[in-house]
Amino acid sequence: MWLRWVVFLIFPSSTLVKSFLLIRGHRYAHTRTVALEEQLQKTHHKNTRTNHKVRGLLDHVLNRLHQEWDETKWSRLRNYLYRSQEKLTEEQVKNVLDFLLQHLDETDAALVLQQSPRILRKNAKTSLEPTYQFLKDLYGESLLSVALKRNPDLLLTRGAGYDGGVLELVEVFLAEELALSQRQIATIKKDFPVLFQTPVSKLLSTVYLFRTRMEHQTHEQATVAIAKMMLLHPQIFILSVESIEHRIEFLVKECGLDTDSIVRNAGFLLGLSIEENLEPKLKLLSAYIPNREMLATALKSHPQILGLAQDTLQAKFSYFDRIDADCFGTNSVLTADDSLASRILLRATPVLSLSLEKNIIPKIEFLAKVWGIESLDTSPRSPRLSLSEQLRQYPSILSLSLGGNIRPTVEFYNRTSYIELDSSWRLQPWSISLRGRDLAASLSNRLLPRWHFFHSKLFSKEDSNAQRAMQKGLPLHILVSATDTTFCDEFNFDATEYSVFKREAIPRLKFSSQFDTWVKTGRPIDV
Ligand SMILES: *[C@@H]1O[C@H](CO)[C@@H](O)[C@H](O)[C@H]1NC(C)=O
Repeated sequence: MWLRWVVFLIFPSSTLVKSFLLIRGHRYAHTRTVALEEQLQKTHHKNTRTNHKVRGLLDHVLNRLHQEWDETKWSRLRNYLYRSQEKLTEEQVKNVLDFLLQHLDETDAALVLQQSPRILRKNAKTSLEPTYQFLKDLYGESLLSVALKRNPDLLLTRGAGYDGGVLELVEVFLAEELALSQRQIATIKKDFPVLFQTPVSKLLSTVYLFRTRMEHQTHEQATVAIAKMMLLHPQIFILSVESIEHRIEFLVKECGLDTDSIVRNAGFLLGLSIEENLEPKLKLLSAYIPNREMLATALKSHPQILGLAQDTLQAKFSYFDRIDADCFGTNSVLTADDSLASRILLRATPVLSLSLEKNIIPKIEFLAKVWGIESLDTSPRSPRLSLSEQLRQYPSILSLSLGGNIRPTVEFYNRTSYIELDSSWRLQPWSISLRGRDLAASLSNRLLPRWHFFHSKLFSKEDSNAQRAMQKGLPLHILVSATDTTFCDEFNFDATEYSVFKREAIPRLKFSSQFDTWVKTGRPIDV
């Protein structure tokens, strides 16, 4: 009620309203108005006084720093002063200015005040000075001024003042230099406490080594990559800068990797000794791919391979070499770079990271059955392609999952009679066998939608040419062909109609139990 009067009385002001109220004989209202006007006078007076105070503080700051007023630069500080004038004394502002000018030149001090005016509320002695000393230890004096220009909030870092508790240099380093969150820092602390006993100067020089070496990255991109490496492989950061540099050199010059991708994807390689680990492994790999450029391409696509244990790698190569020997005879003239192992290393590098016993061997034994190759020591005169030949044709089949991709696809081909298997997945002697490429075709993206679309159209085509073509069935090479266009063109199908069908059918296939039903009944199922 009272407020409404104020609003009413301040704006359509004074005499008219006053006389109006008087005429109506509202004495009380008249008295209130007079009182309010007096109050208004007082507030106005106070406002000019506070404006005066803000202006005074502002002038003080500008004079001390020898700066001119500039709306775009100083408005933040002015607004801050307006908001906080009650809590700020001239003495307080003067102390902070003294502190700033003791350590920074006038331009830098101005920058800090423009960006972080909150600093004016800090106690120079108990908070700012210790923080400054602390940051100076952390960065060194010259670097600190660079760091402050980049992030003027730095002086407001918490935890460094007298009442902030223990000073943890490494924590502040991780937060400020690598932008890690408190939670991430806590994780490193738990998993790798040694890092927190490492001199910050050491950590800083390692980070600077990476930064200068990552030429193609912006400062921010490099920070993200280095931070990720810190989270995944903190142990690298306590190695001597010389050995890190030495190893980067080796990986770049001898293995053809580049620093960007080492830091981003293969930081753990920097933890491996050159003489005992990297060099012998590189020698082993070069035996299978003597061409340095080709080897570099393989290593770039999957640098993890250099991190595998030497004997694990050797065991995998020996296994592939045995498949070669079984197919071509032990006395064959096959050289290492002509071998199955070499082919896999070059064309399907990540396969070498898979477990030999748990993954590679079961997969290859399954494929051998499906391909109709009875055992590894099949006769070289067998009419079917040998295991080595099948795998060479399409080594990437080994990177697919046996249970998730290969087996369901083989089951589809068996149900739809493209191949004939017995109940234990062995190819019947009279059946044709499928190439690795066919077995790798996507079940939910290619095979199932095409097969079902074809069968739904089988008896409904008007066009007699197309009808005749369809009577002969859906040929394998059309079923697996790389594009939907080839499939549609073959039978004169409407490409849009097919793509609508496909879009609706694929989500239903996500439920694997419906896979089976769909194959069996030939009808899409409602979810
Ligand atoms: C393949 O299909 C045949 C004939 O339908 C069937 O008897 C056999 O069990 C199937 N094999 C597998 C592994 O599903």
